[in-house]
Amino acid sequence: MTDSTVTINEITKSYGTTTIIAPTSVTVEEGEFVCLLGPSGCGKSTILSMVAGLSFPSTGSVSAGDEVITGPGADRGMVFQNHALLPWMTARGNIEFGLKSARPEYSSSERRTIATQWLEKVNLSHAAERRPARLSGGMQQRVGLARAFAIDPSILLLDEPFGALDALTRRQLQLQLLQVWEASRRTVVMVTHDVEEAILLADRVLVMAPSPDSTVIADIRIDIPRPRMEDEQGEHAGRKAELRQQLLDLLQH
Ligand SMILES: Nc1ncnc2c1ncn2[C@@H]1O[C@H](COP(=O)(O)OP(=O)(O)OP(=O)(O)O)[C@@H](O)[C@H]1O
Ligand SMILES: [Mg+2]
Repeated sequence: MTDSTVTINEITKSYGTTTIIAPTSVTVEEGEFVCLLGPSGCGKSTILSMVAGLSFPSTGSVSAGDEVITGPGADRGMVFQNHALLPWMTARGNIEFGLKSARPEYSSSERRTIATQWLEKVNLSHAAERRPARLSGGMQQRVGLARAFAIDPSILLLDEPFGALDALTRRQLQLQLLQVWEASRRTVVMVTHDVEEAILLADRVLVMAPSPDSTVIADIRIDIPRPRMEDEQGEHAGRKAELRQQLLDLLQH
């Protein structure tokens, strides 16, 4: 089994004659929490789906550990921007199905127990037996998170996982994600367009330029110790404000 470093090696992505992503290289260390930040359409989801093994660079390569990624794998779990739940299965069914595909070593009763635990953690016990059509966008998003967390992949790929949530639920799930990450130290690559979220969560923030010919234009280390609550009077408030300004300036380019 390889380690869970992610190496993006001189990738490009073109559709026809349009180069969406110009040559880009990035390394994410094992156990690191990295956010990809950038304007809409710059290629964040494209890069994440290449790490997931669901699409491929036009040139260059993406590796997990020392193996070039040639398709999806149980070592990588993805939470999609558009939830991507199976519409004919209940919330519970989606989580159990994810476990069945990625963790065939679990028995059906183990799958059930794990699904029950995760439904509880994302506050969806009451909606466990509902199909996606009867769940709100935010509820579907929470099922997507539970499905990925339940699999416990060594590389967790999150595409704007909190986009459709109200502020309170969003904060709860951000803290839960941090708890899961701190307990297990999985490698996390998360797409966000929210500067505050990136500063709250990430070890490093990779900022992308607008498309076409987008690439990573900055690699900013968030050098504030955790926990990083929104205490604007705290010891690190000044540094936080600096980072916020730096990221906003980069996004405006
Ligand atoms: N199949 C396709 N054919 C042509 N262009 C595509 C295709 N898929 C994606 N693109 C283009 O690639 C670019 C990057 O798309 P991507 O979904 O990665 O952006 P994103 O950074 O995730 O944006 P957002 O923040 O809006 O989710 C966009 O300009 C999009 O129009
Ligand atoms: Mg996207």
